[in-house]
Amino acid sequence: MLEQINFTTKNILEKTNNFKPEVGIILGTGLGGLVKEISAEFVIPYEEIPNFPVSTVEGHSGKLIFGELGGKKVMAMQGRFHFYEGYTMQQITFPVRVMKALGIHTVCVSNASGGMNPDFEIGEIMIINDHINLFPTNPLIGKNIAELGPRFPDMSEAYDKKLIAKAMEIAKNNGIKVSQGCYAGLTGPCFETPAEYRYIARIGADAVGMSTVPEVIVAKHGGMRVFGVSIVTDLGVEGKIIEVTHEEVQHIASAAEPKMSFIVKEVIRTL
Ligand code: HPA
Repeated sequence: MLEQINFTTKNILEKTNNFKPEVGIILGTGLGGLVKEISAEFVIPYEEIPNFPVSTVEGHSGKLIFGELGGKKVMAMQGRFHFYEGYTMQQITFPVRVMKALGIHTVCVSNASGGMNPDFEIGEIMIINDHINLFPTNPLIGKNIAELGPRFPDMSEAYDKKLIAKAMEIAKNNGIKVSQGCYAGLTGPCFETPAEYRYIARIGADAVGMSTVPEVIVAKHGGMRVFGVSIVTDLGVEGKIIEVTHEEVQHIASAAEPKMSFIVKEVIRTL
């Protein structure tokens, strides 16, 4: 894996005239709007990046965007890889390894989720303060590569408390309602049954979704700081559960996206 990471990193540096990003951004469903705020210097479609997984969705390939946001040099992933698409955990998290190799110290992740916290409303912006890995596996399973990180990485503060505090302050000062909570990540692609929502709520999660956890594990393994935001697009709260569609998830996520983008951008500015 080391050779692949180094090869891809070298290739990207060649394509970007040695652009050295400090902050990585992974954009989730319906949350690509932040990209418009990046003054992009280089854009590389995934299919032109060696060792990057090839998208399973036709005509829906992602891209890496290199540029400036909040006064910092950033690399944004427009489009992420999901476990339900059939990728391995290593494929899903490969771009995060490349982020580290490029010199990135902080990773910002976003996603759409189903909310189980009874206080949540549709469109709620939840700053992620912890997670539960409900995937049947972990991207670090296998021989540990010491150059990439420790065998048993600490996860006592997966989501950086200082960045959470900054985000809360930014939200407050700008009249944006946000909450904090724990995100449970599982495979999908089915949305949850009412019993599953109940179960996930009882084990301590406020929201549930199909991404983020693998990338955050690898970011922490590599010693990077993580900031995460989730948009609650539907409710898994007893009595409020209605049919969920992907279109509705995208629609709600896009509506809340400008506020989320603002918070992410301003958090990046403080780094
Ligand atoms: N469950 C899982 N993933 C999701 C949901 C959900 O309810 N909403 C948006 N992504």
